[in-house]
Amino acid sequence: MTRSEKFASSCLAIALALGASAGAALAADSKPAARPWMNAALSPDARAELVLKQMSAAEKQSLVHGIYPIAVSFLPPKQIPADAVGSAGYVPGVPHLGIPALQETDASLGIADPANIRSNDVATALPSSLATAASFDADIAYAGGATIGKEAHSKGFNVLLAGGVNLARDPRNGRNFEYLGEDPLLAGVLDGAHVRGIQDQHVISTVKHYAVNDQETNRNFIDSVIDEKSMRESDLLAFQIAIEQGKPGSVMCSYNLINGVWGCGNEFLLNKVLKGDWQYPGWVMSDWGAVHALDYATKGLDQQSAAEFDTKPFFAEPLTLALKNGSVPASRLDDMARRVLRSMFAVGIVDHPPVKQPVDAAAGAAAAKKTAEAGIVLLKNSVDVLPIAKTATKIAVIGGNANVGVISGGGSSQVIPAGSMELPFGGGGIAGLLGKVVYHPSSPLEAIKKLAPNAAVKFSDGRYVSDAVRLAKWADVVVVFGTKWQAEGGDVPDLTLPDGQDALIDAVSSANAKTVVVLETGNPVAMPWISKAAAVMEAWYPGARGGEAIADVLFGVVNPSGRLPISFPADIAQNPRPQIAGYDVELPQMGGDFDKAKTIPVRYTEGADIGYRWMAKKDLKPLFSFGYGLSYTMFAYSNLAVTGGDTVTVAFDVTNTGSQAGKDTPQVYLTNAAGEKTARLIGFSKVDLKPGETKHVALTADRRLLADFDTAAHGWKVKGGTYTVTLAKSATDPVVSSSAQVSAAVVKP
Ligand code: BGC
Repeated sequence: MTRSEKFASSCLAIALALGASAGAALAADSKPAARPWMNAALSPDARAELVLKQMSAAEKQSLVHGIYPIAVSFLPPKQIPADAVGSAGYVPGVPHLGIPALQETDASLGIADPANIRSNDVATALPSSLATAASFDADIAYAGGATIGKEAHSKGFNVLLAGGVNLARDPRNGRNFEYLGEDPLLAGVLDGAHVRGIQDQHVISTVKHYAVNDQETNRNFIDSVIDEKSMRESDLLAFQIAIEQGKPGSVMCSYNLINGVWGCGNEFLLNKVLKGDWQYPGWVMSDWGAVHALDYATKGLDQQSAAEFDTKPFFAEPLTLALKNGSVPASRLDDMARRVLRSMFAVGIVDHPPVKQPVDAAAGAAAAKKTAEAGIVLLKNSVDVLPIAKTATKIAVIGGNANVGVISGGGSSQVIPAGSMELPFGGGGIAGLLGKVVYHPSSPLEAIKKLAPNAAVKFSDGRYVSDAVRLAKWADVVVVFGTKWQAEGGDVPDLTLPDGQDALIDAVSSANAKTVVVLETGNPVAMPWISKAAAVMEAWYPGARGGEAIADVLFGVVNPSGRLPISFPADIAQNPRPQIAGYDVELPQMGGDFDKAKTIPVRYTEGADIGYRWMAKKDLKPLFSFGYGLSYTMFAYSNLAVTGGDTVTVAFDVTNTGSQAGKDTPQVYLTNAAGEKTARLIGFSKVDLKPGETKHVALTADRRLLADFDTAAHGWKVKGGTYTVTLAKSATDPVVSSSAQVSAAVVKP
C-alpha cells in the first residue's frame, strides 16, 4: 500500500466507525427520567459508571478515537459529521444517552482556526505563555485561561488543547513560547491556574505534552534520555503540580521517546507515574500523529486523536479485533471510556454544553493587554531613559514592522485576528507548511504616537541601516525593535536576532545614546549590543494588544513588573548541549513509518538542574538570570523569619521605597539542604504596593522542593537537618538568608 492509499484506508475506517456511532445515535431515545447519570448531585465517578453501564461496546469504543475535522481534502464532506465544529479534533458522542461529542480546539494562546476553516472567526490572541510566566502571577494565568475558555465555549468547543508545561531546557526550542519557562514550581503553579481558568468555563483543558518533549527538531524521533530521579524532580514535577492544582480533564502524551519508549506508548509514564503514583482520574489523549502501535491501549493511552495523522486508525477496527480476540481486555475499554466520561462530568461539559454566541472581543482584548503588561520584563534602564520623558519632542521608531503590529509564534497555537499581516515563511517541514509569520494588528508605532501627541514620531523600517542611523541621530530618544519568529516543528540554530537586526540595533545604539531596545521574541536572545543600548525590554510575543502594552510601559502608564521565567545565557556555550541533537538530520514530521532505528538520543545530562540551577552548579554567569526584572520604583525586604518543622515557612515584609506604585516579585530559593549546596525556587509572590507601602508575605514550601526523589524508597526523601533559604530579587540577586531545622521524611510520589 502506498502512503496515500494507507491514508485513504484509514479515513475509510474512521468513516465506518463514525457511521456506527451515528447509527447508535438513532437507537431508542431514553427519557431524561431514565438517565440517572444526569443527576449533577452525584460524583463524576458515579455518573460515569452509571452511563458506562448503558453503553454498547461500539459506543464505548467510539469515545476512544477521533478525527481531524478539517481534512476535507481527504475525507469527502459527507464523512465529516454534521455537528463537528471545524478545528483540531472531533470525537463522536453518544447522543441517545446525552453524551456530547468532544469538540477540540487549540490552544493555550487562544482559539485557533486552522486553515481558516471557520472563515474569519474572531478570537482573542493572548500573549505567549512565556509572557504569562513572566508575570509570576497565578491570577494573570487564571484570567487568560478564563478568557480563552469562555471563547471556546462560545464557539461550540468543549475541549481546549491548552496547558503546555514542558520545561525550557534549550533556549532555541521552537515551542518554548507556548510553555511556562524553566522552573517546575513556577510552570506548574501557573499552568494549574491557567487550567482552572479554562475549566471554570466548562471546557476541558489538556495538559501537554507529557513528557520531556523539550526540543522540536525531529520531535517524532528524539529520544529524551534522562534518569528517573532527575525527571521526577524537573519535567514531571511541573506536570504533577499543574495536574494537582488544575485538575485537567485530559493529558496529551508527546511525540518524542522517553528512555527508548515513545511518549504515547510509555507504560512507565502513563500507567505507573500518571495513573499509578499520581492517581490521575482523567484521560490520556495522543498528540496528533503520535500513535505507532495498537498496544498503546494497554500501555496507558486512552484515546487516539485525529487518527488520520497516524499510520493506522489503531483504536478503530484494530482495537475492535483486539477486544474480540482478548489481547486487549474489555475491562481496559471500560477504563478508557470511563476516564473520558468522568472528565466530561467533572468539568461540566454535559451539564453546561457550549452555547454558540459572539465572543466579547473587547473583554478578550483587555485580558490580552493585561497579560502583556504583566509579562513585559525591563532588563536594562541606564541613564533612566525610561519611562520616556514627556519633554521628548523627537522620537524615532525603528524596525520590527512596528508600523503594522507585533509578531506572534507559529504552529498549532497560532491565532490570527482579523487585520493581521501574514508573511509567508516558506521552507520545509511543518513550519514551511503552516508557516506564516503573523503580526497581530496592534501597532507599537501608532500606540507611541497616541501617548506622545506633542512629539514628532518618525519611523524607519530598518531595512537600510544608514537610514535608521540618520533617523536615530535626529531623535531625542530611539525605540528600536528586535523580533524573532519561532514556531512549532523546529528550533532555531542560535540566539541571534535574524535578518541583520543585531547589526541594526548596534548601529542605532551607537548613533544615539538614548536608544531603547524592545524585543519581541519567543525565547532568550543574545545581545551583542547591550553595552551600547540605554534600555532593553523583553516583550515576548505580546498578543492582541501588544503594541499598546509596549507603549504603556515605555511611557510609564504601566510600571513594568515582569520577571524572567527563563535564563538568558551569555552564550549558547553555557547550555548543557551547545549543539541541538540531530539538527542536521531530516526525518519525517508526520504520517511516516516510525522506524525505531532512526531515533536520535538527546541526553539530558543536566538532569533536574535546568537553567538557573545549571548555571549555579557550573558557576556560570548568565546575561540575565531567571527571576530578573526591573521596575520604575524600588523595593526593600525586611523582617525575614524562617521556621522549620516538616517543611520551611518563610515570612518577610516588602516595602515600596520608591515614589510610584509598582509590583514586586520576591523570590525564595533553597540554597542549602541539610549540608548540600543547591539553588531551587521554593516560593514566590506578586505584591502590589503603593509608594511607601509595606506588605507582609508568608510562603510555605512544598516538601517535594526540599527533597530529592529517591527511586529505591519510591518517594521524595527529605533529609533531616538545617535548611537555608535566601530571599532574593532573582536567582542571582540574593538579599538575605536564614536557616531552620527540618525533620526527615519520605513523601509519597
Ligand atoms: C501539537 C499539539 C496540538 C495538536 C492539534 C500537534 O501537532 O503538538 O500541541 O494540540 O497538533 O493541533
